[in-house]
Amino acid sequence: MILKLKIFRYDSQRDKTPYYQTFDVEAEPMDRLLDCLLRIRAEQDPTLSFRMSCAHGICGSDGMRINGVCGLACQKLAKDFGGEVLVEPLPVFRVIRDLVVDQDLFFEKYFSVKPFLISKSPPPETERRQSPEEHHRFEESLRCILCACCTASCPVNQNRDTAAYVGPAALVRAFRYLFDSRDEGTKERIGLLDRKEGAWGCQTLWKCTEVCPKQIPVTKQIGRIKRRIHENKQAL
Ligand code: FES
Repeated sequence: MILKLKIFRYDSQRDKTPYYQTFDVEAEPMDRLLDCLLRIRAEQDPTLSFRMSCAHGICGSDGMRINGVCGLACQKLAKDFGGEVLVEPLPVFRVIRDLVVDQDLFFEKYFSVKPFLISKSPPPETERRQSPEEHHRFEESLRCILCACCTASCPVNQNRDTAAYVGPAALVRAFRYLFDSRDEGTKERIGLLDRKEGAWGCQTLWKCTEVCPKQIPVTKQIGRIKRRIHENKQAL
């Protein structure tokens, strides 16, 4: 089959305005969109820029907007496109070149939620243990590969007035530690999350959950963070 890829092009060092360029690519039905992009780069335009690494939905580097919906190029098959596909960079972020966006702000927000275990008690003789049930409480959030599709799809992050919202990806990571039985930083985590730029920035619009390529129940996890903040206040 011939797949028509209409691709967003922009080089921040050269172009005044972005434009779209269409490429015809010969593809097998089970080829992935990522294969088609690699083919364009190898055979038609070596300047086409995009990120990729694992090609198997693990590294999270090839997040982009595909026919208006954010997703991983390595998880989309040619047969599902009906001959044409519009490929654009993730919204919300500044475009550096073509499909490559500046992720500095994304990771700044991610690190703002302290994405690590906080321990205050002295280290035990052996490792800090937890039961399978305790682990199960946050297990789904471990699937996050930081592809940024959720944050880019969130209407709150897309709105300039509310763009300071930390975003769903950071909140999934905050959930992971807030509900970890070994973590001893609950008080400071709640302090970071109990703000309009934190968990309360979420307007429960479900876009993050719809696009998550790892099927993490993102909106539900943010809801559980909100409940935890509320319970914590009541316990004071
Ligand atoms: S290239 Fe690694 S997730 Fe797609």
